[in-house]
Amino acid sequence: MSALGHPEGESVSTQGSGSPVGAPAMDAELQRRVLEGLQQPHKSLPAALFYDDEGTRLFQQITALPEYYLTRAEDALLRAQAEAMAALLTPPHGSALELVELGSGDGAKTLPLCAALHARCATLVYRPVDTAALALQQLVARFAAALPALPVAPVCGDYFRHWPAARPSARQAALFMGSNLGNYTRDEALALLRGVRDRLAAGDRLLLGLDLKKDPHAIRAAYDDAAGITAQFNLNLLRRLNRECGFDFDLAHFRHYASYDPLDGTARSFLVSRCAQRVASRTLGVTLHFAAGETIYTEQSQKYDAPLIEALAAGSGFAVERHFTDAPGGYTVVAWRAA
Ligand code: AVJ
Repeated sequence: MSALGHPEGESVSTQGSGSPVGAPAMDAELQRRVLEGLQQPHKSLPAALFYDDEGTRLFQQITALPEYYLTRAEDALLRAQAEAMAALLTPPHGSALELVELGSGDGAKTLPLCAALHARCATLVYRPVDTAALALQQLVARFAAALPALPVAPVCGDYFRHWPAARPSARQAALFMGSNLGNYTRDEALALLRGVRDRLAAGDRLLLGLDLKKDPHAIRAAYDDAAGITAQFNLNLLRRLNRECGFDFDLAHFRHYASYDPLDGTARSFLVSRCAQRVASRTLGVTLHFAAGETIYTEQSQKYDAPLIEALAAGSGFAVERHFTDAPGGYTVVAWRAA
């Protein structure tokens, strides 16, 4: 275990703005995925690219938008059901508990659950894992102020490359909130969930926050807000490619487009080229050609229902134990038990 409050994996600076000096270099694997996506017949970008410091700030603004109901719904559930969730996650016989959260972000939503768990298990250790360095710094400050006695061991990096090892006698519980699973295709989601299952012991739990299928108007609006923050969030991908990969995208030549298809329950975001144009990176030695109206597929946000949730659990070695669904029925936190 690392010293408390000091992240493992890639380092997180905890002073100043947190931005490295000079042009930050993109992780080689992420850069490979960027180039691969942009050179497909239908161009795409990996959703993992959103969360540089500016993307993290824009996402935080999204969570406060009137149209973006997801965060509010999940926050309310986690607050209202914190005791019941903590009771479910508390191991029997006073065993120690390690709470591993994939994609913790700034930890705001998880604080009430951690407080309830901390009150029950004195030995709780919280291990938030996220690729967003800025969000983890905010998390550390938030928890130090609100729950100073809870050991927090943040990990900055890939969910699995840096999966924290449990102390030998401790049980683990995993959290994957925010409907972050929705960014993955069905096959990718199954692979990710199997990866989580493989790292847990039989009987350990996974809490999964999932956005449910609902009125398509409400879903589409969540990804195309009137204030245009989601558009900025999407366009920020191009700014990041310019800065970190030497591209010369003109952001004024692209527009945000969001769709929701009730048949498959998938919201999708795109960047649309407003004109025929060429975009190049001297550093990478590539030139891209865009036709007017051509799109870059930047994100999918899957919406779920009970059969889909059952199928994902069964397909990844979990059994559905409990649903915590909000009163309007628009959002759920499911508790799965490792089979
Ligand atoms: C953080 C991945 C759950 O898909 O709803 C918000 C990201 N994208 N607005 C989502 C997002 C556009 C969000 N997740």
